[in-house]
Amino acid sequence: VDEGQFRAELMRWYARHGRHELPWRRTRDPYAVLVSEVMLQQTQVERVRPYYKRWLERWPSVGELAKASPAEVIREWAGLGYNRRALYLQRMAVAVMERYGGTLPLEVEELRTLPGIGPYTASAVACFAGERRVPVADTNIQRVLARAVLGRARARDCEPAALRAAAERLLPEEGARAHNLALMDLGAMVCASRAPQCDGCPVAGLCRWRLAGQPEGETSGQRTPKFEHTARFARGRIVDALRTADGLDASELAALLPDHHRDHVPRYLRSLEVDGLIEQDAEGRWRLPGQGRMSMASPKL
Ligand code: ADE
Repeated sequence: VDEGQFRAELMRWYARHGRHELPWRRTRDPYAVLVSEVMLQQTQVERVRPYYKRWLERWPSVGELAKASPAEVIREWAGLGYNRRALYLQRMAVAVMERYGGTLPLEVEELRTLPGIGPYTASAVACFAGERRVPVADTNIQRVLARAVLGRARARDCEPAALRAAAERLLPEEGARAHNLALMDLGAMVCASRAPQCDGCPVAGLCRWRLAGQPEGETSGQRTPKFEHTARFARGRIVDALRTADGLDASELAALLPDHHRDHVPRYLRSLEVDGLIEQDAEGRWRLPGQGRMSMASPKL
């Protein structure tokens, strides 16, 4: 792949078709960018929009979020899924207050040391808020790289090191932020995983996968279990119940779940407790943590 030509075609396409209006692309506030990235990790853009807006209205800065209780952030998260993400954001805010006086760092290595911030999120904040020249490797970007540069149908058919090298090579000296956002949009809007729209693709002429005749993926696709049968579903149900009804015991919670989950309720409760999403009161009833009272996260001196 000719990197210069690839970048030029990509950016011409992005100028016309990119999702420039997304609210988290119109700010360079690292906190706002971080909130958006954590929300967007497992959730679709359209679903995230209202949550992003409400979250920032309620907790406009790291300082405010650090004072929130776990129960409050878990309630605000209702409907987004993967509730642990809400807790991580709150813990991150506490850590940023303690270590940085409320100002998020913009370097990948420093961001990585914060609770709940993995390699993807760290690079996204460094690049989208800090305009650092770093590769950002979300699933859409990885698929584009797998196809265009490495000639494979899917990122999971590629060596991680090969994907990283491809991302590095394509990164421009200037304008890494727009470049990464453009790759992201190309992956989401054109280079779709099931039905890629190669006719509308600005780099179809350079794409090694297309030039090779679009070979099928190699790795066998494992079938994903029905959502209702997963522990994630059951854990989500339990947290949903505790958002509205405080103080339920294990049998009351078990009654809210389909039969096949009942025997596993003690395990779900333990794992939720370990994650800090629920806690048990003196009577053995379960509730959201830091309920009403002063939270552990914000001890008064
Ligand atoms: N813009 C910035 N980060 C994004 C993401 N993770 N998904 C969609 N659009 C974005």
